[in-house]
Amino acid sequence: MAFDLLIKGGTLPDGSRADIGITGTTITAVEPEITADAGEVIDAAGKLVSPPFVDPHFHMDATLSYGTPRINASGTLLEGIALWGELRAVLTPEEVVDRALEYCRLAVSKGLLAIRSHVDVTDPRLAGVEGLLEVREKVRDVIDLQLVAFPQDGWYRSPGAEENLIRALDMGVDIVGGIPHFERTMEAGTASVRRACEIAAERGLMVDLHCDESDDPMSRHIETLAAETIRHGLQGRVVGSHLTSMHSMDNYYVAKLLPLIAEAQVAAVPNPLINITLQGRMDTFPKRRGLTRVKEMRALGIEVGFGQDCTKDPWYPLGGAEMLDVAFMGLHVGQFTSPDEMRSCFEMVTETSARIMGLDYGLGPGKPASLLVLDAPDPVEAIRTRPARLAVISKGRVVARTRPAETELSLSI
Ligand code: FE2
Repeated sequence: MAFDLLIKGGTLPDGSRADIGITGTTITAVEPEITADAGEVIDAAGKLVSPPFVDPHFHMDATLSYGTPRINASGTLLEGIALWGELRAVLTPEEVVDRALEYCRLAVSKGLLAIRSHVDVTDPRLAGVEGLLEVREKVRDVIDLQLVAFPQDGWYRSPGAEENLIRALDMGVDIVGGIPHFERTMEAGTASVRRACEIAAERGLMVDLHCDESDDPMSRHIETLAAETIRHGLQGRVVGSHLTSMHSMDNYYVAKLLPLIAEAQVAAVPNPLINITLQGRMDTFPKRRGLTRVKEMRALGIEVGFGQDCTKDPWYPLGGAEMLDVAFMGLHVGQFTSPDEMRSCFEMVTETSARIMGLDYGLGPGKPASLLVLDAPDPVEAIRTRPARLAVISKGRVVARTRPAETELSLSI
């Protein structure tokens, strides 16, 4: 049998060695040794061959806008939201498309081929929605882009937000979003979680809320989200993003909360780069980290994926579609230092996030032929060195190649 593309001699994330044969857009063979002909052979001997990186939490309508119309001087979440409001008022779909496509090109070069992006629906013009729906179509052959209708300024706090959100869903946005901790009162936050789950149940959609992105240990909307998930039969289709308040919650309360989240099969998506920079801002010392309880959730079988959240936008001046930076930061802040724990950080930017997003994904026969050849021998070394993506293959096509940087030392030691 001849293949269109053959990846020879690579090491898979689980440490096994395999050749991977690709026919058209599909992986058709994964075997220890494939000798058949192929249109193109990529030598991956000694290199890590991984399924693509997956970012389960991003804001593509805001990306690459850093400094427009001004810089976030305090660096806080709240100034970021205010600044975004200024930019949102003058957004055009064309400008959103330009920035988003620039980001997508960067993402492809980094092997990031699946992204869940929130898109703000606060402004009734829905310029971001219009722009990102166009982008979703434009990148469809390369990047799996999911969109979440996100009322940034609050479901009830922002006039017309629910109406705008429903219009966005009618236009083709995939997922119901929300931001319960940002409503005016706890009660309004609770009501917004209920309404989001109702709409998702009615329409057969998934839910992904910015949930409890706060250092306030009494911000407990995740509890309502889990209970409403069970009430509506939405198990496996709901995500609580951030969940930073859980860092500060009372341990006794968390001992009840985590089994409820597990029962509801609600997934968690913390965003380590952003959580470590935005949380704990009102603390003196000791200063809280703000990363949610990742190890404890994983121990109960709760799916946890690491998201990137931001790249050069009102909330974060850095970033660059580099999911290994996200894994690196998650590893440090969450203290994932045993070999198994370090490997789990790689899983949280690949397989686990793919499951959370419901993607058809992986390196088995019959799966979409999307994979990476990284210039590293294994997942832990990949996190340590953030290596070149020697080849990025999306749906059977080589879409990017990067040569490793070379350094010449001009000294003798
Ligand atoms: Fe976010």
